[in-house]
Amino acid sequence: MLDIRGLTKRYKKFVALDHFDLHVDRGELFGFVGPNGAGKTTTMKIVAGLLRPDGGSVTVEGHNILKERAYVRECIGYMPDYAGVYDNMKVFEYMEFYAAAYQIQGLQARERYQQLLEMVGLSGKINDYVEDLSRGMKQRLSLARALIHDPRLLILDEPASGLDPQSRYHLKEVLKYLSREGKTIVISSHILSELSEMCTDIGIIDKGKMILRGSLIDIMDQVNQNNPLEITVYDGMEEAARILREHPKVQTVSFNYHKIVVNFSGSHEEEARLLNKLVMNGVLVYEFIRRPGSLENLFMQITEGKEEVMIQRFHQAEEGE
Ligand SMILES: Nc1ncnc2c1ncn2[C@@H]1O[C@H](COP(=O)(O)OP(=O)(O)O)[C@@H](O)[C@H]1O
Ligand SMILES: [Mg+2]
Repeated sequence: MLDIRGLTKRYKKFVALDHFDLHVDRGELFGFVGPNGAGKTTTMKIVAGLLRPDGGSVTVEGHNILKERAYVRECIGYMPDYAGVYDNMKVFEYMEFYAAAYQIQGLQARERYQQLLEMVGLSGKINDYVEDLSRGMKQRLSLARALIHDPRLLILDEPASGLDPQSRYHLKEVLKYLSREGKTIVISSHILSELSEMCTDIGIIDKGKMILRGSLIDIMDQVNQNNPLEITVYDGMEEAARILREHPKVQTVSFNYHKIVVNFSGSHEEEARLLNKLVMNGVLVYEFIRRPGSLENLFMQITEGKEEVMIQRFHQAEEGE
């Protein structure tokens, strides 16, 4: 459905997307997760045709977004992270305006937006001014607007951010419903737990690169067998870092002062040998424990502490590796 290859985007000298790859299959409810500044909005804007990439390619149903704009426009519904201010516009006028942008007019437009407003729970607000709606309602309106031309692929940029728990729950239900109706949905968030309850698939982006991609089930399996090791080192940090980086069963290493958190896929024996190797090489280890694995742990390693955390490398646990 959506295929992104080698996507690169620079803002002046700053590289926001660095040969970024992503493939989303038809029918997926894909959670696009990453800390603030990872490149989610940039990716989504490029897919929606609002921002020009510097390199790479994006196709939707096999159609190149730059060469076949009209096709892609019909195909995609985009909900921006921040919807602009609409002075003196009522909810129905807002919907009519966007319907007209897709050549949907008159009775057809009205039927369509009434149906959508009902779905997002805004039927009672049809004559209200957009600017008077609460944040949650504006988000729902923005979602309804993105659906006006019945797109097959929905690109939603942090739709749940700033919502109270009730609105969030409602949004989740609407997205699940849309997914069941056959829409392919890409939804971004900087909070993994926000997505893990509803998404079928997850991709984690950090610093313009995809760090991890897979079905939620596979990722959970992987996380459980890769419970992170927490190693606290009194002295010999550099040597420890070298040993860990070279270890074939180490997937990510993050450093935080004296503490090292390591995603490690080895057996108990390999774990013991790793400890032995650290000690034999003069690293003064004073704590070496397995932390219970969770999706949140994995994500925290990528996001917590920002600069202190370095993603050394990540390769998905492959059989027989
Ligand atoms: N218009 C812009 N000019 C300069 N830098 C930008 C611009 N838009 C985004 N960036 C930078 O690109 C990086 C990625 O931003 P963004 O795609 O918005 O990330 P996310 O949506 O994941 O938080 C950030 O470091 C951000 O500061
Ligand atoms: Mg963003």
